[in-house]
Amino acid sequence: MPAKWLKDAVFYEIYPQSFRDTNSDGIGDFNGIIEKLDYIKSLGCNALWLNPCFDSPFRDAGYDVRDYKKVAPRYGTNNDLYRLFGEAHKKGIRVILDLVPGHTSEEHPWFRRSQSAEQPNPYTNRYIWTEHWFAGCGDLPYIAGEAERSGTYIINFFKCQPALNYGFLKPREPWQLPMDHPDCIATREAMKDVMRFWLKHGCDGFRVDMAASLVKYDDERKSGTCAIWRNVRQMLDAEFPDAALVAEWSRPDLSLPAGFDMDFILNDPHTRYATLLRDYNEPVDNTYFRKDAPDRDITRFLDIYQGWYAATRGVGYISMPTCNHDTVRLRHRLDETEIKLAYAFLFTMPGVPFLYYGDEIGMRYLELPGKEGGYFRTGSRSPMQWDASKNLGFSNAEADALYLPVDSADDAPTVAAQQDDPASLLNTVRALLKLRHDNEDLQADAPYEPVCTEKGRPFVYRRGNLLLAVNPSGEKLFADVDMDLDHREALFTLGMADAAHGRLVMGPQSFAVLK
Ligand code: NOJ
Repeated sequence: MPAKWLKDAVFYEIYPQSFRDTNSDGIGDFNGIIEKLDYIKSLGCNALWLNPCFDSPFRDAGYDVRDYKKVAPRYGTNNDLYRLFGEAHKKGIRVILDLVPGHTSEEHPWFRRSQSAEQPNPYTNRYIWTEHWFAGCGDLPYIAGEAERSGTYIINFFKCQPALNYGFLKPREPWQLPMDHPDCIATREAMKDVMRFWLKHGCDGFRVDMAASLVKYDDERKSGTCAIWRNVRQMLDAEFPDAALVAEWSRPDLSLPAGFDMDFILNDPHTRYATLLRDYNEPVDNTYFRKDAPDRDITRFLDIYQGWYAATRGVGYISMPTCNHDTVRLRHRLDETEIKLAYAFLFTMPGVPFLYYGDEIGMRYLELPGKEGGYFRTGSRSPMQWDASKNLGFSNAEADALYLPVDSADDAPTVAAQQDDPASLLNTVRALLKLRHDNEDLQADAPYEPVCTEKGRPFVYRRGNLLLAVNPSGEKLFADVDMDLDHREALFTLGMADAAHGRLVMGPQSFAVLK
């Protein structure tokens, strides 16, 4: 059973580098997040996910952890983070941290010991070492020529991220340890120890990086990796029953039964999520929410989603993010109206939605040179745009000292500029999230069922007793639905919607919730 507080949770993802700098060093900090908690609350978000904020050489923006139990000084101190937990809780906001269990930085003391010439030591098998000094690692990515000890080691992502050793499901060579080897169990226990540390200090759970990556040569259904997560879940159930875990996995049918409360559906081709929001890498851009999509078809997404929804109902939640720190922002290809409709859909579907900082004002994807291993992703990591003051209110540092430049466009969106306009994207987000909080039928658990999925019709769906419809096209569309239309009233609309005599008529680019 997922943690109870998730039922009405809406998360806000913060890339701490770029949110709010209070000590004028050009980079965001914990005090900046504390300063903005009321703003976050005003959006209707009641939970935060912070990208990794731990000590790190930052070769992958902090996903290369050097010390799991110490925050990076550039964001403040551990005590500042504990204070953030406390202040957030006072306002009814939960905070989850980013747990990176699959790899560490090559500068982590565990790895320094593991690679040293003095062998054996307690960390000899904390990482995956082959017996070969140069090659011979099968198809796993490895690094040679860097270690003091003889052998090559396996990496999990970048070169700077050696893979932690949770063992192999079916070892094929002597250097491949089985999952029940005491040293592999010790890795798992070390990660549980990290989780306990932060949970005891007041964090509410974790977003789990590359959650599927733990056991090597795992089978199709990831049974090795799932067994580890089930073991972790047992610990949480016994010691921190309120803690929530969200997986970066995109296989809710596997991750949720293994003990995750939520799983993100991301843009990997198998999820078909991109067909909704960013299908522009295909030969024809049929992004569902694009007004001019030539062959709009919601079933391209639902063909996968429906199966996952049915398989995981009551077990855990599917999470659909507006974007994240690895993805191109929606504003890159969608205009404001298209984005409003996309959010209307995302925020009224079952599961737990995630809003990426700045998406509430339609921040742009900027063409920026890569920073801290960001590559193309850097363009979605630029500073939050608060108002028209220096550096758009992000920082008082000189512009050339900023972590990343702010959007220099004359019409760069800001919170201040949208604050008083009831029709702004910002206030539309607020209205949608308020609608969700006010109506249990729109929250995580309420039943969901597609009602009309035909091409050339609005997508009509039911949540509890509510009927919802979205028409992203530029034309007026109708759907004949036998759901008591004559007695329903509109709870919320964007654009024009009309219902009578069994026919739902949706104006161009419209959305409606009918009660
Ligand atoms: C997924 C994270 O979201 C991404 O930013 C990171 O680079 C990789 N995992 C490696 O940890």
